[in-house]
Amino acid sequence: MKVVLAYSGGLDTTVSIPLLAERLNAEVITVTVNVGQKEDFEEIESRAYSAGAVKHYTLHLVEEFANNYIQPCIYMNCSYEERYPLGTALARPLIAKALCDIARKEGADAVAHGSTSKGNDQVRFNLTLMAECPEFKIITPVRQWNLTREWELEYARKRGIPVKLSSSKKYSIDENLWSRSIEGGVLDSQSSFPPEDAFEWTVAPERAPDSPVVLEIEFLEGKPIRVNDVEASLSKLIQALNDIGGKHGVGRIDMIENRLVGIKSREVYEAPAATILLLAHKELEKTVYTPREYRFKRLLDFEWSDLVYQGLWYEPLRERIQSVGAEMNKLVTGRVWLKAYKGSIAVLGRESPFSLYKREVADYDKGWYPSEEEAEGFIRIWGMHSIQAYLSRCKHSSV
Ligand code: ARG
Repeated sequence: MKVVLAYSGGLDTTVSIPLLAERLNAEVITVTVNVGQKEDFEEIESRAYSAGAVKHYTLHLVEEFANNYIQPCIYMNCSYEERYPLGTALARPLIAKALCDIARKEGADAVAHGSTSKGNDQVRFNLTLMAECPEFKIITPVRQWNLTREWELEYARKRGIPVKLSSSKKYSIDENLWSRSIEGGVLDSQSSFPPEDAFEWTVAPERAPDSPVVLEIEFLEGKPIRVNDVEASLSKLIQALNDIGGKHGVGRIDMIENRLVGIKSREVYEAPAATILLLAHKELEKTVYTPREYRFKRLLDFEWSDLVYQGLWYEPLRERIQSVGAEMNKLVTGRVWLKAYKGSIAVLGRESPFSLYKREVADYDKGWYPSEEEAEGFIRIWGMHSIQAYLSRCKHSSV
């Protein structure tokens, strides 16, 4: 039997190669998807072959990831539990879809991935595979054979299977263009402060430069198109912002997260570009939407993010919400200025041809003022329900 395995190059998926061969008599074809993780893809390929893969694919899908997954996430101000910009959750559907493409091309019998039974990723992988290539059986070596880290390390040692040094180290990492997720090791204690060696993209705020950097970010219909003097594709702009933000210590996130599988987990993330872009994008939205549009968009954002986190990329509602969001984003054109300084990021100003802000109306000194009667009447009618209810209940209460 022929199995196409999603291969990250880490310990779990590396030992899965010989295990699939031994236990299922499978020919294993490995697929590594480049979604912007900082890895040596040639080294990953040679590791796959030394672990026994019969064929290996490296697919460079950074542009597709940026344009078809991260861009919608920006439209929808993506965030789970107010903090996590969904990097891992967004990449899983793309990786699984790529797996389906290769499995078809290779005439495989099954597809496989290395998720455990405790995480969200198993759900995201399986549901995408069920949607994109229901004809293939899904094999999950780590989950179905209850593989543990110690057992895997021992097995790899006995068989002389190369494992990446860092994969046997302190943390479980998942990285892509949008964010770097760090779990496990000392971070499993909810109260232990994250050690500096958990971070790779960001410096500690106290070690960031003493002078701030000012960023000018331009959006066209909800799409970031320029950062300072650099006009570039979304993926390039994200890389640039990850570098600048990381250098200034922006985008460290430490949270207790409610996993969809019913477990609370301690999660640490690095996401400089996501932190900066989402702040700037939301600021522009607030400038161009009516108050009701803005409030309604927050609800759409929440539902969209929740569906994506929960592994429901293929739930038709996700696409429907997104199309309303993308339509609304046609107004999100303009520029936002921000300042990054020692771990913080703050908006300095914003400008848009569709801005609904009117200085002549807002200005306290020279602006237009409602007349005394207008203001009085407006307040009376605006508060009528609430004040009448308050007064009548107070009269009846014993206090
Ligand atoms: N908690 C995040 C999520 O479910 C990230 C999981 C990342 N996985 C990892 N091996 N660190 O999307």
